[in-house]
Amino acid sequence: MRISKTRAVLLVIAVSAVAFLGWRMVRPMNIFVITDSFALPISTEKMPENIHSLSAEGCASCHQEFFDEWKTSIHAQAWTDPYFQVDYEFDGSQQNCLNCHIPLDKQQENLVLGFRDTDRWDPILEPNPDFDFDLQQEGVTCTVCHLREGKITGVLGTDGAPHPVETLSDPNQICARCHVVSGDKWDTFFKFPPCGTVAEIQASQNNSANKSHSGEIVRQDTKGLGCVECHMPRVERALVEDGKVRTVRRHLWRGGHDPSMVKGGLDIKLAELSAKGDARRFQLSITNTGAAHYLPTGTPDRHLVATIRLLGADGRVIDEEQFTMKRTIMWRPFIIDLWDTRLQRGVPRLYEYAADAGDLAGAVTLQASVEYFLVAEKRRVRIGYDDADATHYEVFSQRIELKP
Ligand code: HEC
Ligand code: HEC
Ligand code: HEC
Ligand code: HEC
Ligand code: HEC
Repeated sequence: MRISKTRAVLLVIAVSAVAFLGWRMVRPMNIFVITDSFALPISTEKMPENIHSLSAEGCASCHQEFFDEWKTSIHAQAWTDPYFQVDYEFDGSQQNCLNCHIPLDKQQENLVLGFRDTDRWDPILEPNPDFDFDLQQEGVTCTVCHLREGKITGVLGTDGAPHPVETLSDPNQICARCHVVSGDKWDTFFKFPPCGTVAEIQASQNNSANKSHSGEIVRQDTKGLGCVECHMPRVERALVEDGKVRTVRRHLWRGGHDPSMVKGGLDIKLAELSAKGDARRFQLSITNTGAAHYLPTGTPDRHLVATIRLLGADGRVIDEEQFTMKRTIMWRPFIIDLWDTRLQRGVPRLYEYAADAGDLAGAVTLQASVEYFLVAEKRRVRIGYDDADATHYEVFSQRIELKP
């Protein structure tokens, strides 16, 4: 058998394309780009004068109230958080996770001497003689945000501290270190980077936002993002016992783990619309009124599920419809943002439900509820995280009685 030259060339191209796509389906996945800001741990080599401990307990000896608040926050659990621990192990305990969840060099069991690859996924490690187990348990502790080059950073410009202070012009720049993760590579097609919080705010503020070659919306500057205004509420109090009363910010950082924070960001209404023929119609309207970014934001695992049900006299479900507000990404063979049904600020989402005469005959109640999920049930089961109750909760529930 003879094949023409063109055919042979086409065959080679086709075989290579199939081989390439096949390899993309099984190759190890790198979801994000490791930027300079979190490639390496934070150096604690230079200690501020009069600060003898990197631990939050040390700061607490003067700043007790800040400590008490931080202790209740998810930042204090960024390492011990059981969901993080299970996910971290499932993902192969990669070094780069540590540079946001426990970023101080002394919090890490190994020193990073360099990298074997240019993408910085393959670090050269050596056991860390200064590893501090107790400090590791503190996760995103005070010094993670406040220690830079032997000084304590702040925005107030105080001059009475026993430790040196470096004044920052913008508190949000502290958040950007970990809450911005770029994903801009030749083979990714994101609208927002993997952790899109900052880009989502910018997209809402300015729709012609700076776009990179893949179409991804990238970070410009951090002023005006409002992170601390919403996540660190203002309060009047002194920094230290008997100190001067100032306008300061509470160290709470509530988000997806806090039902009241999520509820506070949402305005949800259930109403009956005028009937159409034999069918009665209902509308669930959900608006993100409280978050400048999308709701939910952060990792694409977060999502909301709205359910509308018709219930019979015995509580039996006669009919049910579900609506999901989620960012859906295709991971292989290329990373592509497929669709995004999360809530943009101020744009009401309307879900309609029609009950026909047949269903209505046995129904006594229409019930609508909205649930927040930290992670999809499927993923939770796959990574082996057993605590199902800890990963979702209800943020809204209302009933309409159908028979007078
Ligand atoms: C021995 C007491 C003491 C200790 C320990 C201490 N501080 Fe302070 N700190 C102060 C005082 C006093 C001020 C100034 C208060 C004022 O002027 O109202 C201050 C100011 C600050 C400020 C405000 C800076 C600014 O101008 O915005 C920050 C932030 C801060 N401390 C963080 C820390 C952290 C983090 C630690 C632990 C690593 C720590 N402090 C340990 C006493 C202390
Ligand atoms: C050193 C990295 C780092 C910095 C800096 C940082 N965060 Fe975080 N933040 C994290 C990590 C890691 C988590 C998730 C912890 C977990 O759930 O295990 C988190 C979680 C959160 C959450 C979610 C809480 C929840 O209930 O899920 C909010 C809100 C938040 N951070 C706000 C902020 C703000 C505002 C700033 C700036 C003042 C900031 N963070 C600075 C690493 C950081
Ligand atoms: C996730 C980052 C982060 C962590 C962790 C953190 N802080 Fe702060 N802290 C900030 C930011 C941002 C500000 C500036 C707030 C503002 O705009 O006034 C601040 C301000 C302060 C101030 C000055 C008062 C004020 O509100 O400006 C003190 C004192 C302080 N922090 C102490 C602490 C102590 C003590 C801890 C640990 C128990 C801690 N911080 C942990 C981010 C952090
Ligand atoms: C106008 C208020 C507002 C501003 C500004 C804002 N947030 Fe939020 N944020 C919220 C509310 C409300 C929620 C809870 C609902 C949700 O999860 O979206 C939230 C949730 C979060 C979460 C939780 C997501 C999770 O995975 O649990 C993170 C992280 C977060 N914000 C980070 C930020 C950062 C970083 C900034 C600044 C770049 C910021 N936010 C600016 C109101 C705000
Ligand atoms: C650039 C900083 C950064 C890196 C690197 C990072 N994380 Fe996170 N992680 C965060 C922040 C910020 C959050 C908080 C919430 C959000 O964005 O939804 C978070 C939240 C999480 C959560 C959710 C925890 C909860 O209780 O809901 C898990 C799980 C997690 N990270 C696992 C990992 C793993 C595994 C790696 C390494 C493969 C990793 N992270 C690398 C910053 C980072």
